Amino acid sequence: MLENGSVLVTGATGLLGGHLVAELARRGVTTVACGGPGRGALGIDLSDPEAVASLVSAARPRVVIHAAAVTLISDCARDPERAEAVNVAGTVHLADACREAGARLVHVSTDLVFDGEHAPYDESVTPAPLSVYGRTKLAAEREAAQRVPNLLVVRTTLLFGPTLTARRGFFDQQVDALKTGSPRMRLFEDEWRTPLSLRAAAEALVAMAGEDDLRGTIHLGGPERMSRYEMGERLARHLGVDPAAVFERASRLGVAGEPRPRDVSLDSSAFHHVFPRLAVDDFESECTRMGVQ
Ligand SMILES: NC(=O)c1ccc[n+]([C@@H]2O[C@H](COP(=O)([O-])OP(=O)(O)OC[C@H]3O[C@@H](n4cnc5c(N)ncnc54)[C@H](OP(=O)(O)O)[C@@H]3O)[C@@H](O)[C@H]2O)c1
Repeated sequence: MLENGSVLVTGATGLLGGHLVAELARRGVTTVACGGPGRGALGIDLSDPEAVASLVSAARPRVVIHAAAVTLISDCARDPERAEAVNVAGTVHLADACREAGARLVHVSTDLVFDGEHAPYDESVTPAPLSVYGRTKLAAEREAAQRVPNLLVVRTTLLFGPTLTARRGFFDQQVDALKTGSPRMRLFEDEWRTPLSLRAAAEALVAMAGEDDLRGTIHLGGPERMSRYEMGERLARHLGVDPAAVFERASRLGVAGEPRPRDVSLDSSAFHHVFPRLAVDDFESECTRMGVQ
């Protein structure tokens, strides 16, 4: 049971964070929500240990949902020091502050901690990330586990849906392109994931944040295995547009830089066993539930 003022959300200005704050509000739970540096009073730089300690000691949360990170694979590859400072050191500072305050930490991680060769992945598989992003996210999981006894790591997947903040994600860009006919976009047809709507991800994370005894690592993916091209195709049809007018098929093998995992589909049976009533619909139904039509 989450009480008013008991939850702190990091990354609240991001794609997932916006939906987390909305889901908490829907449940009537007031939240301390913070964005990144440069967001004025709402901002925090997680790489600054003193700022993180002051934030947590002032907010006195019972649970912290940690959704802040440098999330673009290309940004992490271009600037590994920043990825390390925010994703790893930032999580260390937050975990230290949680332990000091006796708060629970729900750490949002990623399917990209896996190499893509052994899908579907359940929680027993040993991660082997291929990218700087995946390596920093895995290091953050491990550092947090050494600091917070009641840590919950939630590895989630490609999240789709409209943004509720100023941040524009790939889904918003695709909807814009489908509505205007430009720009043409190239989408991988040979990289598979189990996409989940931002709505469902936020609902599930808030439910898990309210379960004090839930700890360890849990996988949170969607019900369907899809490539980005198939997602684009289904989104186009959902909006009544010919996919070929906007989307082109591309191969992950043609991308310069870090290798991309082939198939990081998640096995989310453990999650559904704990929360049998949290239904996640198919792609089109989730789009409709989020007002995309
Ligand atoms: N979206 C996905 O498909 C997906 C898939 C798997 C896992 N995840 C995980 O889910 C979480 C949320 O992802 P997202 O897509 O919502 O990310 P996002 O839209 O890129 O948002 C990232 C958030 O982190 C904040 N941030 C960045 N640097 C910071 C810093 N130095 N100090 C404090 N905050 C900082 C940003 O703040 P400002 O914008 O205010 O600077 C923003 O609120 C991440 O942990 C990500 O690894 C996401």
